[in-house]
Amino acid sequence: MLQDKVAVVTGAARGIGKCIVAEFAALGAKPVILDFDEEAGLAFVKELQASGTDAFFFKTDVTSFTDLQNARNAVIKKFGAVDILVINAGISRKLAIGDISVEEWNKVININLNGSFYTIKAFWDDFLAKDGEHPAKIIFISSGSAITGTGGGCHYAASKAGQHGLMRAVARELGPHHVNVNAVAPRVIMTDIFDHLYPTKESRNDLLQKIPIGRFGLPEDVAKLTAFLAGPGSDYVHGQIILLDGGRTY
Ligand SMILES: NC(=O)c1ccc[n+]([C@@H]2O[C@H](COP(=O)([O-])OP(=O)(O)OC[C@H]3O[C@@H](n4cnc5c(N)ncnc54)[C@H](O)[C@@H]3O)[C@@H](O)[C@H]2O)c1
Repeated sequence: MLQDKVAVVTGAARGIGKCIVAEFAALGAKPVILDFDEEAGLAFVKELQASGTDAFFFKTDVTSFTDLQNARNAVIKKFGAVDILVINAGISRKLAIGDISVEEWNKVININLNGSFYTIKAFWDDFLAKDGEHPAKIIFISSGSAITGTGGGCHYAASKAGQHGLMRAVARELGPHHVNVNAVAPRVIMTDIFDHLYPTKESRNDLLQKIPIGRFGLPEDVAKLTAFLAGPGSDYVHGQIILLDGGRTY
């Protein structure tokens, strides 16, 4: 489904991003892992290469526009193009508003929202040049927090709501260039972030009662939806926010 597509995923050394890359690789893509965790990123690329995937890691902090420009140049040098961009790198901090300092606010906004804009901007000309013959896709991994205000601190919810506004604006500009732009908004997916937000058995049991499907989300759930949005089946899906929450929100 994604044979030979060059797919760049930020924050892909671990968690959801890593799972998205594994799914893309299984579908034939050439994945590019951008992350500031060099050790985990390189180890993952080694694994992918050992199973025959032409994968590539570039150490990137998404709060640095220069890092992202260097990453973009390295991708073009290695693969000559970019077809799919997944904006996934992010952090979550569950804090009450009174406990959020200005520095703490800026840190989360800087990674989650500014980092999203810097990523888009670094690859902007590549997507503007798309001609429809080579369908291209941009997918944001946002969060249900943008809709509910829960799940992290107010800075997290605001950063994710900001991603939705950014996604819609990008969708308007890139639609005529035949680039589909959408967001996946997960809630409670079992990764390091989940362990940090819900550390106790009690907090997890309470939460489980609220999910009609009766289980927590898995990184694979996000990866499969993202792969659909990255593939040809989603060519008429554009500017959408798709909640992935086991039916919890609505
Ligand atoms: N896990 C959940 O329940 C959940 C729910 C909703 C949304 N999300 C979103 O999904 C995305 C991935 O979350 P996850 O659960 O896999 O988190 P995670 O902590 O398991 O992984 C995050 C990855 O991003 C990388 N990263 C963090 N800051 C970075 C930076 N400045 N530059 C480059 N890389 C950076 C980390 O090194 C790590 O590899 C995030 O945007 C998160 O907000 C997660």
